[in-house]
Amino acid sequence: MSDKNKVAIITGGARGIGYGIATCLANKGCDIVIADMNEEAAKVSAAAIAKETGVGALGITCDVTRHAQIDAMIEQTLKHFGQIDILVNNAGICPFVNIMEMDEAVFTKTLDINLTGAFLCTQRVARKMISREKGGRIIFITSLSVNVTGAEQGDYAASKAGMHMLMKSFAIALGPHAITCNAVVPGMILTDMTRHHWEKPEPAKFIKGRVPVGRIGTPLDIGNAVAMLCSDESSYINGVGLIVDGGHQTVCV
Ligand SMILES: NC(=O)c1ccc[n+]([C@@H]2O[C@H](COP(=O)([O-])OP(=O)(O)OC[C@H]3O[C@@H](n4cnc5c(N)ncnc54)[C@H](O)[C@@H]3O)[C@@H](O)[C@H]2O)c1
Repeated sequence: MSDKNKVAIITGGARGIGYGIATCLANKGCDIVIADMNEEAAKVSAAAIAKETGVGALGITCDVTRHAQIDAMIEQTLKHFGQIDILVNNAGICPFVNIMEMDEAVFTKTLDINLTGAFLCTQRVARKMISREKGGRIIFITSLSVNVTGAEQGDYAASKAGMHMLMKSFAIALGPHAITCNAVVPGMILTDMTRHHWEKPEPAKFIKGRVPVGRIGTPLDIGNAVAMLCSDESSYINGVGLIVDGGHQTVCV
């Protein structure tokens, strides 16, 4: 599998799963754009990846809910690298508020970032891929919440289930242009978004009992799955969700 000479944009790539994805794609030889609303972290993370892997890496400020920032990020990418081969829609939030106590503003914000942000980035990047006529790969980072949820994940689950169908719609629209769209569906992954929960003794014990491989996932577990779906060998995989959860969702009791 060679990804040399490819250029990948990872939204929300400054830390956590996005940083793991950026690292894995860089290890395959891709040049990397970390598009994150946290400007300082985006630049620091891009510099670290460039130093570690030797690829070209840019950190660009981009809030995926802001049209002008997305357009500017795409233009900067094209100016610097000349092409876009891969987009990973990873930027996301999970506020963990009970659905009965949730303000509309919280609900809307989650939908805006997780779902509408992926729509805006995909449509804009896909237009560039279509006009280049070299195909492409677009990955949506969803969640097991596309199928199961909790009282504190109503907004999040709605956004991720929406993302799943958004991915399928783009897969149909872009397939004729050799642009594939797929989702990577992470299980429980240790990042700053989830650390407060999984590092407590009881949840840590739960993971051991509940996840067949006996450990929590890492950002690199997700990054490796993304790299596989972005490879040349995956050109006939389109419109699917690849669950990467150590077998968690297969356990019924
Ligand atoms: N951690 C898990 O267990 C888990 C499980 C399933 C799915 N996911 C999904 O994986 C993705 C990454 O999660 P994570 O755990 O690494 O989270 P994280 O909070 O550690 O990192 C999220 C990154 O996204 C950036 N971001 C947030 N809002 C943004 C915006 N509007 N525009 C651009 N960047 C923005 C943040 O600055 C941060 O760098 C999310 O979509 C999340 O829903 C995570």
